[in-house]
This record gives sequence, C-alpha cells and structure tokens, in this order.
Amino acid sequence: MATTRRPVVIKLGGAALPHREAVLRDLAAARAAGLEPILVHGGGPVITDWLKRIGKQATFVDGLRVTDAETLEVATMALAGKVNKELVATLVLAGTPAFGLAGADGGWIRARRITEPDLGFVGEVTSVDPAPVHALIAAGYIPVVAPIALGDDGLLNINADTVAGEIARAVGAALLIFLTDVPGVKDGTGTVVPVLSAADARAMRDSGTIAGGMIPKVQACLRAVEAGARAVIADGGDPGAIGIHVRGDAGNGTTIER
Ligand SMILES: Nc1ncnc2c1ncn2[C@@H]1O[C@H](COP(=O)(O)OP(=O)(O)OP(=O)(O)O)[C@@H](O)[C@H]1O
Ligand SMILES: [Mg+2]
Repeated sequence: MATTRRPVVIKLGGAALPHREAVLRDLAAARAAGLEPILVHGGGPVITDWLKRIGKQATFVDGLRVTDAETLEVATMALAGKVNKELVATLVLAGTPAFGLAGADGGWIRARRITEPDLGFVGEVTSVDPAPVHALIAAGYIPVVAPIALGDDGLLNINADTVAGEIARAVGAALLIFLTDVPGVKDGTGTVVPVLSAADARAMRDSGTIAGGMIPKVQACLRAVEAGARAVIADGGDPGAIGIHVRGDAGNGTTIER
C-alpha cells in the first residue's frame, strides 16, 4: 500500500530519552501538520541499567553493543518491551494514534549476524519490507519501531541508527532526523560541524574524531542520503527540534551530505 507523501524518519536516541515528553509533543504536532512520521527508538541506557541489575557489564565495539545470549534477552525486553510500549502509551494517551512494532514482527526487517568482528547476536540489516509501516501510516498511526530484527535463527539486536537509516531508504523518506544528547557532530576542537561531507566523515572516523555511538549514526545518514533523503543529527533537548529540521532552518545540528 503506497502512501502519497514521503515519510519523515525520526530516531530518538536512548541518550535523548530524558527529553521524550517534549519530543513526542513535537512529533504529534508534525503529524497534525500533515507529515507522515515514523519513529525509531534506541534505548542504550535502559539496556545498560538492566544489565547492571543482573551483574553484567556493557561492552561496545565501534559504537555497537557486544550482545551475548543474555544481553539479547535484556535488549529485547528493554527495546521491544519497556521503551517501545512506554513511548506508544505516552503518544496514545495524549491523543496521537501510535502503533509499536519491532523489526522482527512479521519479519519485516531481516538481518544477518555481523561476524567481522564477532559481536554475538548483533545484526546488519539485509532487507526492510516497507508494507507494514505504509499500512500503519495509511490507517492513521505513527509507527514506533524497536530495533530488534529477525535473523536466520532467531532475534538479532541491531543498532537503532542502522535501522533508522535502512527504513529511511526503504520508504523513500524525505528526511531522517537523529535526536541524541549532543548538538551535532563535533570536530577535533569540540565545535559542531554544520555540514559534513562523506569524505570529511570518513577522515574524521579514521582520525578517531568521530567515535563510539556517532559512528553508526553518520554511517546511517550516508546510507539515507545516498537514497535521496536529507539527514540531520541534532540535540533531542532542543525545543521544537523536529519542526526546526522539517523546515530546514539553518544553524542547528549537523547535516550530512554525500
Ligand atoms: N565527533 C563526535 N561528535 C559528537 N558526538 C560524538 C562524536 N564522537 C563520538 N560521539 C559520541 O556519540 C554519542 C551519541 O551516540 P550514542 O549512541 O551514545 O547516543 P544515541 O544513539 O542517541 O542513543 P542510543 O544508542 O541509546 O540509541 C555522544 O554522546 C558522544 O559521546
Ligand atoms: Mg547509539
């Protein structure tokens, strides 16, 4: 079922969850203004907190969470359970139709295990079937997506940035907005870079200026930009962040270009 407009994909970082009330109000306003938003969320701090409660230490390689069987259980419960349902509840109780789903539901997001390096049950996306989100949008819902996908043998944990980028490609999104806990991509002096080219991004990655959780974010932006989207990384704490980037106002966040 095709939609007439090009959707806008918004990724709410786990790091930006403290600002969720304001972001969800923004999101509802964007929908009321006629946009077709798709919300993708992370939940890193929630997973790390629950791992700590069972005496496990979180480990990351290049911004990706090393996921053993027990960590996959916690990530699934945190992302496809608690975080997803709380976001949906907040939207629905505020009068905005929202429908939660994980990538594994119906197998609409398929993935295979990353083996180089071996990160355990961490996947890279192999396909996204946009039909379920198109159907939800057509029915008036904001799809709220948890980044747990279906692998060959069962569930896989996928970085939410990667999922957002691949969904943006699959639905032909006009815009992909990452809301996180920093005001954009910072250079070596800590200054936010307003516009970042693919070549600059690569150089900053190689020099270690772009590190950790910023690596999959920039990568996902480049994937979405390649497919014709505008891609922005911004601070989830900025009041009206979604509206600002829908309008394309200058002077806020980092826009990634090819
Ligand atoms: N060059 C850079 N500019 C800005 N932030 C950077 C840079 N390099 C690394 N980072 C880190 O990336 C972090 C954002 O990624 P992080 O994965 O922590 O958040 P998130 O993706 O919003 O949350 P989640 O992963 O839970 O969804 C920043 O807090 C910062 O520490
Ligand atoms: Mg992250």
